[in-house]
Amino acid sequence: MKIITLTTILLFGSLALVSKERSGEQDRVNNQKPENNMNTLNKFEFPQLPYSYDALEPFIDKLTMEIHYSRHHKAYFDNFVSAIKGTEMESMKIEEIFANMSKYPAAVRNNGGGFYNHVIYWENMKVNGGAPSSKLQSAIIKSFGSMEEFKKLFSDAGKTRFGSGWAWLSVDDKGELFVSSTPNQDNPLMDVAEKRGTPILGMDVWEHAYYLKYQNKRPDYIDAFWSVINWDVVSKRYESLVK
Ligand SMILES: [Fe+2]
Repeated sequence: MKIITLTTILLFGSLALVSKERSGEQDRVNNQKPENNMNTLNKFEFPQLPYSYDALEPFIDKLTMEIHYSRHHKAYFDNFVSAIKGTEMESMKIEEIFANMSKYPAAVRNNGGGFYNHVIYWENMKVNGGAPSSKLQSAIIKSFGSMEEFKKLFSDAGKTRFGSGWAWLSVDDKGELFVSSTPNQDNPLMDVAEKRGTPILGMDVWEHAYYLKYQNKRPDYIDAFWSVINWDVVSKRYESLVK
């Protein structure tokens, strides 16, 4: 009887501990400030997800988020760290590596891009993410004619990207906005990109970003993406580049 009681106490004690740890983990994730994550990029640290796995439901489901962040993003990060180990890149800023991308091995391009791009992506998503600031909205209208035109251009960039890749809204070196798409894990900061600039909004169109919920219907995922844009973060990124 005593053995059973002790086992029961130990079992429930362990469950309570696991539950407490999970709750602490959730608090940590929920309290994460988006801007803190950008600092992890140049320290080459794996960033925390700025919200819980189910935070973007129903637009992006919990299981997709969990696998995308904890497996895909983590694998890019781990492979990037091992690809730059013992090289001059260890002491460089990630944007500097991207600016010289054509000099470095494909493993750095694919995994460094995968590490960076997902940080941009996690942070520019939020349910009920508001609207662009008046400054960003004016720039969008000046560059694309209207918000609707911009939306169509950006959506089409994602829909027409053959295979895997990304759609971007970026700022070029003249401070002008442009929409582009890149293959694989490339991004507009790389010297191999067709059009170069600094991304302020990124949309992942790899199948791993949507397949569990949307299967092969990439356009449905892209339509849903407009419901999870964190315009506060995107506007702040824009304003930091055009000051
Ligand atoms: Fe991804």
